[in-house]
Amino acid sequence: MRILIIGNGGREHALLWKLRKDAPSAHFFATKPNGGMAPLCEPVEIAPGDVEALSGWAAAHRIDLTVIGPEAPLAAGIVDRFEAKGLPVFGPSKDAARIESSKAYSKELMRNAGVPTAEHHTFTNLDGAEAFVRERGAPIVVKASGLAAGKGAVVCTTEEEALGAVRSMLGDLAFGEAGREVVIEEYMEGEEVSVFAVTDGEHSVILVPAQDHKRIGEGDTGPNTGGMGAYAPVTLATPALIDEARAKVFTPTLAAMSADGAPFRGLLYAGLMLTPSGLRVVEFNCRFGDPETQVVLPLMESSLLDLLVSVAEGGSLAGRTARQRSTAAVTTVVASGGYPGAYEKGKEITVPNDLESEDLIVFHAGTAYRDGRLLTAGGRVLAVTAVADSFAAAAEASRTGAERIEFEGAYLRKDIGWRERARTLG
Ligand code: AMP
Ligand code: GLY
Repeated sequence: MRILIIGNGGREHALLWKLRKDAPSAHFFATKPNGGMAPLCEPVEIAPGDVEALSGWAAAHRIDLTVIGPEAPLAAGIVDRFEAKGLPVFGPSKDAARIESSKAYSKELMRNAGVPTAEHHTFTNLDGAEAFVRERGAPIVVKASGLAAGKGAVVCTTEEEALGAVRSMLGDLAFGEAGREVVIEEYMEGEEVSVFAVTDGEHSVILVPAQDHKRIGEGDTGPNTGGMGAYAPVTLATPALIDEARAKVFTPTLAAMSADGAPFRGLLYAGLMLTPSGLRVVEFNCRFGDPETQVVLPLMESSLLDLLVSVAEGGSLAGRTARQRSTAAVTTVVASGGYPGAYEKGKEITVPNDLESEDLIVFHAGTAYRDGRLLTAGGRVLAVTAVADSFAAAAEASRTGAERIEFEGAYLRKDIGWRERARTLG
């Protein structure tokens, strides 16, 4: 079997790692693989966003399955291109990817389908948006409707801040086209959980729930990042809560999308807020989360590949489930100094030879080999995942493992899973 992975971050390294376990004899390819992926696959020197060139390459190389990591190629219609050429591909169509690429679309869909979420209004006109902010007051949340690399949501604690956010999006186009339309929504209180469903458009296989850490600073302070660490499972996300998410979120959302002529086949990621009045959706993503994938896949005992192939080939997931290990996983991201602001690249990385083991995996994100040396090549550089019998042991192993990786300016959060620790230790 010949498998192509599009993307080259920590999430894609984790996908490659898991799919190689599921199919040890398969032949793997990846677009511009990072330093951790490169030894495990053949490189394809085409950018993940070059949809035309990639579909041509996949056809010429008789690829049996293509798995799309990032949202940008999905929103650009890569799946439609591959399907037009008869190539099996895992991911949603361009229309279905709007669940992430247009918050205005996703909020409207949820409202119509009765899926619990924050109340919202959509604006393209600055005066209207300002008047709405003044009428509602703070706290309030202002979001660019389009793709903004996880940075398009501003949680505003004052009216002034919210007015500033709408002016920068609609007035100054600070997020470019993505912010020409803004969603202004009610502030929700609660803890967040990321839930991934592999879906055929109707049936879903829900994977173990995880919790991300979006802020750069310990105790969840400072600016938002792509995610500084994650853990799974989350004791707050009980089996009953997952059943509720299936009934109130996944099933009605998928039904509404099919009715809309945009069935969602791929990985549907629901960011849920567990509020005092029950679960509500914060956002949907049309792909695996990063760094949650780096804890969800190491805990998956059954084959991911079987599920992806079924979906890519147009099959059904009715009656299918995933078997999870009964252990816990924690991942700690090691980032470049200065991230999520400006940072330098090209710092030499030292990973101790005895660091990795069966239960300690170093997933690369922004790394590259140059002349045999491993160098930093991005903001989030690596994610160190530990699997252990308890959350506490996994957290300890992930943190101490991450601390052993050295490069100039390396930064990590030492408190990944602090909410879980507070819960489990009382
Ligand atoms: P999003 O880009 O929609 O995922 O939002 C980014 C982050 O902003 C979320 O992970 C939440 O922490 C926060 N956030 C988004 N929407 C809300 C909301 N309505 N109420 C409270 N926090 C929110
Ligand atoms: N970890 C958040 C995301 O992947 O969107």
